[in-house]
Amino acid sequence: MELRVEVGDVATWKGDGVIVNLFEGVTAPGGASRALDEALNGLLSKLISKGDIKGKLGSATIVHTLDKLPVERVCVVGLGKPDEFTLDRARQAAAKGARALRDAGAKKIATIVHGAGAGALDAATAAQATAEGVVLGLWRFRKYHTTPDEVGAIDEVVILERDTAKSKTLAAAVERGRIIAEATNLARDLANEPGNTLTPTRLAEIARDIAQEQGLEFYVIDRAQARELGMGAFLGVAQGSDEPPAIIVMRYWGAGHDAAPGLGLVGKAITFDSGGISLKPAENMQDMKGDMAGGAAAIAAMQAIAQLKPSINVTAIVPSTENLPSGKAYKPGDILKASNGKTIEVVNTDAEGRLVLADALVYAIHTLKLSPAVDAATLTGSMVVALGNYRTGFFSNDNTLSALLFQVGEETGEKNWALPMDEEYREQIKSDWADIKNSSGRPAGSITAAWFLRHFVDQTPWAHLDIAGSVGMMGDAKERGYQNKWGNGTPTRTFVNLALALAAKK
Ligand code: BES
Ligand code: MN
Ligand code: ZN
Repeated sequence: MELRVEVGDVATWKGDGVIVNLFEGVTAPGGASRALDEALNGLLSKLISKGDIKGKLGSATIVHTLDKLPVERVCVVGLGKPDEFTLDRARQAAAKGARALRDAGAKKIATIVHGAGAGALDAATAAQATAEGVVLGLWRFRKYHTTPDEVGAIDEVVILERDTAKSKTLAAAVERGRIIAEATNLARDLANEPGNTLTPTRLAEIARDIAQEQGLEFYVIDRAQARELGMGAFLGVAQGSDEPPAIIVMRYWGAGHDAAPGLGLVGKAITFDSGGISLKPAENMQDMKGDMAGGAAAIAAMQAIAQLKPSINVTAIVPSTENLPSGKAYKPGDILKASNGKTIEVVNTDAEGRLVLADALVYAIHTLKLSPAVDAATLTGSMVVALGNYRTGFFSNDNTLSALLFQVGEETGEKNWALPMDEEYREQIKSDWADIKNSSGRPAGSITAAWFLRHFVDQTPWAHLDIAGSVGMMGDAKERGYQNKWGNGTPTRTFVNLALALAAKK
């Protein structure tokens, strides 16, 4: 799909359809909507006064132009109440409009920048959000359907700006939005891919291709190398599977080799989590093909970071394996030794994410000296219970990083919320047989998981994002704005914006 900025006007633009917007409660349309209303002899204001168009958030009304305009259809998207308007609502409106016109059969569409006029957002910020909304909203996963979708595809999207002088700034913003949204869509593609095609080996191949295209340093730590590095926790999980495991490493050197090693992005990538010997119930076990969503976001973020070129060094570390029961599989009661020398009693083989992350974090922090280090993982069912499928709950040992993650979440619409890590919770993972155990049951399950990880990061600024709920891989999540209902790419945009924010700080 082509996406570009053009200097022009919605009332005279030639294509299949144009998107304009309306705030709830507005009776006389302004800006671009007014131009269209005039060209349509007052049809839009008539529909508004009769209550057919209300401007409610999430609404998209398609109006036929009866040949009064060069386009066949106008789509009016609702922005909701003016005093509740946010940047993320601009993204949501853009997505709604693009999807509505696609469903109506349009191939070539134009949209105004949402939120810049009456929404009072900075024009470039609004243009980036509009681009993100369109690209994210039009994403589909139809790879394995052998019959074509009844709904065709949009192949051209134009973002219209009347002012020639402004259009250059907007073009750069739209390009930024496209890069970030396409990376998010890549993370979605990976999360949705089934476990039989997306093995750790295949994930590493995809990451290698991206690294080659984008000029990133790349290597994989295989089973033999992990053994040499003493990664007993990672290898414990991997030993039940016949698929070779892989720790994928991608490095971007935006600040150069003489600067600090920079940001570490660590992503859990269990390509299928059966629970292992502590086998999960059969119901909804298929959702566990998405247990690599954190790793997918880390890989995808590297693609965007390489394209956006911030002046910071960033390294992604993605520990990937299957978690399966077999005659070789690790068992409850086993004691594993991680690469920092700590011993772990396995009480539940289904608490495998923290084990693979332990060695990945030691590698990120102690070996590569990355700081800060941020991990993302579909780590606990408890997080689904705590925050549902909206906000990501995160944990951190550093207030500055914590504040930044919150702020980035508000900007991207990938909402993040800090959860507590009181020392008291740490007691729960003490073991009678080893330094720590990998599970202490249901109470505060997400917090004790975070404490487990903290044993492998020491004093380095670190944060852990538990995306088990927010990434939407439980069957009950719903489509929301530009967000698809399953495997939505979280926290790719958080990762990217974090790198941009850290680069801008220096
Ligand atoms: N991948 C799961 C967590 C998960 C659950 C992600 C639901 C997405 C949706 C993780 O490996 C897991 O099984 N966690 C266990 C930990 C427990 C055994 C301490 C859990 O949360 O039940
Ligand atoms: Mn598990
Ligand atoms: Zn898991």
